[in-house]
Amino acid sequence: MSKDFDYDVLIIGAGPGGYVAAIRAAQLGLKTACVESRDTLGGTCLNVGCIPSKAMLHASEYFDAAANGTMASMGVDVTPKLNLDKMHDQRRDAVKGLTGGIEFLFKKNKVDWKKGFASFQDAHTVKIGDETVTAKDIVIATGSSVTSLPGVEIDNDKGVVVDSTGALELPKVPKKMVVIGGGVIGLELGSVWRRLGAEVICVEFLDQILPGMDGDVRKEAHKIFKKQGITFKLSTKVTGVTVKGKKATLTLEPAAGGDEEKIEADCVLVSIGRKPNTDGLGLENIGLETNDRGQIETDHEFRTSVEGVWAVGDVIPGPMLAHKAEDEGIAVAENIAGETGIVNHDVIPSVVYTMPEIAGIGLTEEQAKEKGEIKVGKFPMLANSRAKTNHEPDGFVKVIADAKTDRVLGVWAIASVAGTMIAEAAIAMEFGATSEDIAYTSHAHPTHPEATKEAAMAVRGKPIHI
Ligand code: FAD
Ligand code: NAI
Repeated sequence: MSKDFDYDVLIIGAGPGGYVAAIRAAQLGLKTACVESRDTLGGTCLNVGCIPSKAMLHASEYFDAAANGTMASMGVDVTPKLNLDKMHDQRRDAVKGLTGGIEFLFKKNKVDWKKGFASFQDAHTVKIGDETVTAKDIVIATGSSVTSLPGVEIDNDKGVVVDSTGALELPKVPKKMVVIGGGVIGLELGSVWRRLGAEVICVEFLDQILPGMDGDVRKEAHKIFKKQGITFKLSTKVTGVTVKGKKATLTLEPAAGGDEEKIEADCVLVSIGRKPNTDGLGLENIGLETNDRGQIETDHEFRTSVEGVWAVGDVIPGPMLAHKAEDEGIAVAENIAGETGIVNHDVIPSVVYTMPEIAGIGLTEEQAKEKGEIKVGKFPMLANSRAKTNHEPDGFVKVIADAKTDRVLGVWAIASVAGTMIAEAAIAMEFGATSEDIAYTSHAHPTHPEATKEAAMAVRGKPIHI
């Protein structure tokens, strides 16, 4: 323990980046504190993000399976009745249990939880309310918050124009919901309310949904969501939203310019991306500047340009994902402790938790083609015995490999359990696997991951079941 400071390490923010960094730092013998301005630990992810959205997705999926005939097709005749209050209660229970779990882990690992909003006074001193705390090393893990749309006022309490936090809490199913942004939040939370009975219209600025994902995946996902009943207005921008009582009127325009159109809705979800949290952090007091996207830049060890100040998670460049933040949290603590903490940013999976799930890792086919000659193997879920038996025919797995070395460059999947299937691809790519390695690895039968094996076999044109 350094004699000159109150703590060896102080972490600002207790989301997946911050709380994981705090626990790892304490495990490595460093005297650690973590500051959090929310009433509970766990950040966006546990309080208003990953966990509550998955609680609503999981519950609404059961409702949908009962309502849309999936259960009946398996011989289970039921007429579902929605108890939305109870659905919300189980979501709140999940959040309470998991955020309480982090509190327990802090106690167990002797991490001090400092309650309040932190602001830098100098590179080793932070002010939290009336308290001043010093530390040899400080990690910024302040996360991100919703990007607002100019001219559109979000009011989660009123429940007419909401962000993701408000959309998780709607007290009744809207008749008509307009989702602005066909990205991850729009599709996940749009799916929740569509399943529970809302008419959902998704307005997307670009000519296709899910930017950043593989082209085939984007096209197929669009088809599947349309079939499920979501209406899409692509290449369209929202230029304004006015609210009168409990109704919103949106003004839309083609993205390239053109005639205006107006649509009405009971609920508007603004989900056009998230921005890093640095306001009020006092970065000016330590001479730390953000880049043009408002992010804090670091080197590969997560050091900022200011000695003793580090940063991880949504506040730094890279995908805004909880597991990326967690991996960086572990690595930064290990680097501060003098060990070698590394994150392989080329191998980070991303998953959209709709039904079916959409998952990917590594390069898209378009990116891989730009880098050199490739071979692609694709296998439809319809030909996978388990998916077919389970009445889950939608989707495919796609393996992209280097044409010369056969090394796997990317794997993309649309399948009911694609989020679980992608873990295999992550391990394979982390170990530099070839498509042949996956193809000749025994996969249990009958399971969905057999489709990944077959897609790998298809890279050399030799799948068995198609
Ligand atoms: P955060 O989780 O945002 O935590 C930062 C914390 O710092 C916050 O609690 C904040 O209160 C606190 N803070 C900020 N400034 C200060 C300050 N100055 N002083 C004290 N405290 C401060 N990712 C996935 O991987 N999978 C998912 O399924 C998923 N679902 C999501 C669903 C939704 C609706 C949303 C909004 C996000 C979702 N994400 C998901 C993204 C994920 O939540 C973030 O990538 C992740 O939480 C980032 O972790 P973080 O630690 O960097 O920041
Ligand atoms: P996003 O970046 O995924 O999608 C935003 C979409 O809005 C894009 O398609 C973009 O083209 C579109 N858009 C931007 N401006 C627009 C405008 N004016 N009009 C119409 N469309 C517009 O952002 P989203 O969905 O808000 O999510 C934020 C982040 O949260 C994600 O990038 C992701 O990192 C994280 N997240 C992750 C989840 C997961 O891992 N399953 C779930 C939810 C969120």
